[in-house]
Amino acid sequence: MRGGKPARILVVNGKGGCGKTTITTNLAVAYASLGQNVSLLDYDAQASSTQWFQQRPEDLAPIHLVQAHQRPSMYRTRAFQTHVPTGTDVVIVDTPSAVGERELDDLLRGVAVILIPLLPSAIDLRAGTHFIASLLKHRSYRAQPVPIGLVANRARRNTIKLSRFTDATETLQLPLIATFRDSPVYTRMADDGRGLFDLEENGRYQAERAQWLQLIHWLDAIRAGSAGPVRAERVPKPAPSLVRA
Ligand SMILES: Nc1ncnc2c1ncn2[C@@H]1O[C@H](COP(=O)(O)OP(=O)(O)OP(=O)(O)O)[C@@H](O)[C@H]1O
Ligand SMILES: [Mg+2]
Repeated sequence: MRGGKPARILVVNGKGGCGKTTITTNLAVAYASLGQNVSLLDYDAQASSTQWFQQRPEDLAPIHLVQAHQRPSMYRTRAFQTHVPTGTDVVIVDTPSAVGERELDDLLRGVAVILIPLLPSAIDLRAGTHFIASLLKHRSYRAQPVPIGLVANRARRNTIKLSRFTDATETLQLPLIATFRDSPVYTRMADDGRGLFDLEENGRYQAERAQWLQLIHWLDAIRAGSAGPVRAERVPKPAPSLVRA
């Protein structure tokens, strides 16, 4: 993909607190640590990604931040404000939880793929399902459909909630790409501007890293144009960690 148009990945779900910022920042770190030029666009006025970025130590893999949530002014147009540097390989977009029709119009522009984080609780799944239904009906999405991948976040072993989650994702007829554990490591890294791939690879988070690599593998297949149909007609088997849980 080097030298071409950067791949734009939208992380979105109308439900607050499901992990949009956690997925965005960790994915940005994972891609950056794999040597890609990454721009992180923060569209949320809450500015959580921006605050995370401001804590990020300078010696770690570089990420370019764009504060896309700031209103355009007389001197700065929207296009200027959301501009990413030449040579960017991947653009990852963090979004607010309350996105209306008009905001979605803006967010969906030029997007190559959509990631929807979901928490395995009944309330979150209901809200997520509702959001996905409205996304699929949205005029901008229908005009230019792109692949949608579900990402399970804050999963715990051996819970009934988790099996409910598996059922729900099958009902949604969208592929479940990766499952991330509920772990204090994510809260710690949110506070100090880091991501899982900044940590030394000592085997401690091996299963978790494998889930991030699985997500990147799926995204790269889309970037390479070999991901198959836009909406998976057949739903792939749930990610292994979910089945074993
Ligand atoms: N896998 C995880 N394990 C443990 N804590 C997590 C995990 N994912 C997210 N969190 C924590 O849950 C909280 C909400 O996560 P996050 O900010 O990523 O959600 P969000 O969807 O961006 O929220 P908002 O809608 O407010 O923007 C944060 O405190 C974050 O550190
Ligand atoms: Mg957020």
